[in-house]
Amino acid sequence: MGSLVRTGISLDSELLARFDQTIAKKGYGSRSEAIRDLVRGLAIASDVTQNKVVVATLTVVYDHHRPNLSERLIEAQHHYYGKVLAMTHVHLDARNCLEVIIVKGRGTEVQELADHILSLRGVKHGKLVITTTGTRLK
Ligand code: NI
Repeated sequence: MGSLVRTGISLDSELLARFDQTIAKKGYGSRSEAIRDLVRGLAIASDVTQNKVVVATLTVVYDHHRPNLSERLIEAQHHYYGKVLAMTHVHLDARNCLEVIIVKGRGTEVQELADHILSLRGVKHGKLVITTTGTRLK
């Protein structure tokens, strides 16, 4: 871990007031912690664009009565074996299922896997959340 460095930034007063309100609602104890989280978010976005290894969760809601969809979802996960770390399946009701697929891989691989799955016919909604493996972030 590097040494702690103090820095100052210039902001419009209204923008700063809005920032303070927002971080107070979220429960941040200080501006510093909120700004550190924003910087970490930028670092993770940079890891993705630089194709570094990231971890992610892909949440998918689908109708399991849709012909062949369950099989296609399984096939896609096998296609990316080694990248898919785990999967959880919840039966939401008689037709609808929710799956959370946990993946690890290079930014482009993770995005490709998500694009493949989310574009399958019958997937109602999904969201990819990419985060850090934690090794390059303090
Ligand atoms: Ni189900």
